[in-house]
Amino acid sequence: MARILITSALPYINGVKHLGNLAGSMLPADVFARFQRLAGHEVLAICATDEHGTPAELAAAEAGQDVRAYCDEQHEIQKGLGAQFGLSWDHFGRTSNPENAELTQHFAETLEKRGLISEVIEEQVYSVDDQRFLPDRYVEGTCPNCGYEKARGDQCDNCGKLLDPTDLKDPYSAVSGSRNLEVRETRHLQLRQTVMEPRIRAWVDAAKDWPQLAKSIAYKWLDEGLRDRTITRDLKWGVKVTKDGKPREGFEDKVFYVWFDAPIGYIAATVEWAKAHNQDWQRWWRTDKGANDVTYVQFMGKDNVAFHTVSFPATILGSEEPWKPVDKLKAFNWLNWYGGKFSTSQKRGVFMNHALELAPADYWRWYLTSQAPEGSDSQFTWEHFQGVVNKDLADVLGNFVNRILRFGNSRFEGQIPDGGIPGDDEAWLYKEVEERLANIAKLYDAMEFRKAAAETRALWAAGNEYLTRAEPWAHFKTDQDRAALGVRVGVNLIRLFAIVAQPIIPFSSAAIMKSLGLEGHAVSWPTGSGEEILSVLQPGHGFTPPDVLFKKIEDEDVTQWSERFGGAQN
Ligand code: 2FM
Ligand code: ZN
Repeated sequence: MARILITSALPYINGVKHLGNLAGSMLPADVFARFQRLAGHEVLAICATDEHGTPAELAAAEAGQDVRAYCDEQHEIQKGLGAQFGLSWDHFGRTSNPENAELTQHFAETLEKRGLISEVIEEQVYSVDDQRFLPDRYVEGTCPNCGYEKARGDQCDNCGKLLDPTDLKDPYSAVSGSRNLEVRETRHLQLRQTVMEPRIRAWVDAAKDWPQLAKSIAYKWLDEGLRDRTITRDLKWGVKVTKDGKPREGFEDKVFYVWFDAPIGYIAATVEWAKAHNQDWQRWWRTDKGANDVTYVQFMGKDNVAFHTVSFPATILGSEEPWKPVDKLKAFNWLNWYGGKFSTSQKRGVFMNHALELAPADYWRWYLTSQAPEGSDSQFTWEHFQGVVNKDLADVLGNFVNRILRFGNSRFEGQIPDGGIPGDDEAWLYKEVEERLANIAKLYDAMEFRKAAAETRALWAAGNEYLTRAEPWAHFKTDQDRAALGVRVGVNLIRLFAIVAQPIIPFSSAAIMKSLGLEGHAVSWPTGSGEEILSVLQPGHGFTPPDVLFKKIEDEDVTQWSERFGGAQN
């Protein structure tokens, strides 16, 4: 039994997440965690809301709420949606909790003792009317390159040119629109990543188990040359800056940069979990306290990779303390919305709360896993969603379960019948089952989610193929034993399908298990020969056909949803 620590990128607190966020970190992390639990490993799945930074402050202001109250509310909303989507976190924490502040301050102070922090004076745009320094992207103005009037201080969205806020003509505050801006000097802490570079490179070189996307992004950053990174900001909301455990002089109105404290939140959320469940968090995070034999797997969208392969490692390696670094890092491309991007700020696309109003969580889980943006970006359209769900879930899996259980119910009184001797059809099926199960497990271990889903579907399809060969309904009148064998194998296949589907569609899996009278039974990943796996449920075992397992998505639904949420026409 292995010990596997799983984290998914921490979702920002500023509003309900869209399906792209779900598909690129939280969902695959959950599918992986569920599979590894089934496979018998000790899994700790950790997530949290990422609560600091300017976007959180501004979102709270827009909602007319105090930022703490806003975060309290949004955290509960995200936690609730996660549960409704079946995300089986062991703990869903908060980066604004004291555990994270304590650890963040500890890391910064330790890095300073190692000579890796320096104090610097920077020039930054100050908005007199807003009484605050403005992060680069909250300064807007006219692009010096193309004349676009709403260019941001870090980049022009129109021509793509990278900018400094001071490059903009007629700059104004994106917070209030005020043009009363000044450049002021401000003191900050920098993490000396330039000093750390050789150590980080050696660590990336040594990383064996990172998929290609993650490695190539890490090298892109290293090859461009690391820069020292400012890790504090002039903000009120965040982790306070300390020295020797006391407020740091000159930093009373500053906090740590959100990307400095957020990944530390993985550890802090584990501390929260340990306190809540009387567990030992160090076993998972400190290599001197047992974490040496932990495999640590991170899930994230590709925009987060640099922070996890360079910045966060700089923090934990730089501390020279025995922290557990990531072993496998799974990064995803984008799920696109009709060729464009999902966007939280522009409210473009489907968000987790709305998604659940339209279709059950499993429909989304299946769609987003089987179409995961792994090798490249993938495209969401309503028609595609309808096609995938109707075909895979309703036609292939749902139809199989219904056919067997209805037939077994009407002809064999809802019990697995005895009789019949396995022959060629069964031998073919046993082999199919053994091969496909081994493939699925291998694909999950390799975190190849699209392929794991495709192979799961292929296993369901093999069940349908078996029924076409065995035809229990055709034999019922002439050869009852043969029909009985078909139903017995069929019901066992249903059990197998439910277990194998559990990582991706846990709610449907539970519904199927319930119809087999196995509600709440502990299950594990099937092992043994095909014959053994397909004779777990013995003659006399009762079952009840479920109500419609997967109601098809109708054309009218697609029309309505396209009208409500937009689609091709946008
Ligand atoms: O990109 C994002 O959504 C960030 N909130 C991810 C943070 S991951 C971690 F480091 F906390
Ligand atoms: Zn421009």
